[in-house]
Amino acid sequence: MATRAPVIAIDGPSASGKGTIASRVAKRLGFHYLESGALYRLIALISLREGTSDETQLARLAAEMDVVFNDGEIVLVDEAVTEKIRSEPVGIRASEVAKLPALRQALLTRQRAFRRSPGLVADGRDMGTVVFPDAELKVFLTATPEIRAERRYKQLIEKGIDANLRALSRDLRDRDERDAKRAVAPLVPAPDSQVLDSSALSIDEVADRIVGWSLEKKLGGSVGS
Ligand code: CDP
Repeated sequence: MATRAPVIAIDGPSASGKGTIASRVAKRLGFHYLESGALYRLIALISLREGTSDETQLARLAAEMDVVFNDGEIVLVDEAVTEKIRSEPVGIRASEVAKLPALRQALLTRQRAFRRSPGLVADGRDMGTVVFPDAELKVFLTATPEIRAERRYKQLIEKGIDANLRALSRDLRDRDERDAKRAVAPLVPAPDSQVLDSSALSIDEVADRIVGWSLEKKLGGSVGS
């Protein structure tokens, strides 16, 4: 049997810093990167545009959508949607459509196709539990709700997007609850994951820690900073 490319799964709640950390770790190890949340956000964007929450229809769209990920840029058919999928309304709809089992099932094959040599860093909610249960390294990244709300607030303001800290905290709480309580692929740490609380750590400290664990497991060749 051919050896499969190694996977580093980074899961955690909204605004725990997964995206920033995962893409940085991928760059340092020379690995591919899967931001699984972007797939849910793409479906959410389509769902809002088409005005449908129908499970079968969304699952079909998830299987068939023509999307290209190119070095951080996301192109849906011929439209650049990288920024459009980051809005709060899209994020909220994403966490709603993420409850739909048929949709999650339809996205499985797409997500697994990202596993290519020399390796993959995948971030999301169920990377270590459902999508890549055989991942070589699993990290569950957390931070307190207050810190996460502040991080999300800063992120939006920096992008010039209007935001309100109190409303963001409420949305995060709702999203945490939906993610943790849904019947399919709920947000829980995989039993074999390393739990990492990033509340008091800088981005570099968190990335260093994960790159360190990867190297201990002999994952990844080229390590830059
Ligand atoms: O930005 P945030 O961390 O809130 O979310 P994201 O990673 O961009 O994902 C958007 C939504 O998709 C989340 O609120 C989750 O409900 C859902 N999601 C999921 O269910 N499973 C994943 N593997 C990734 C995201």
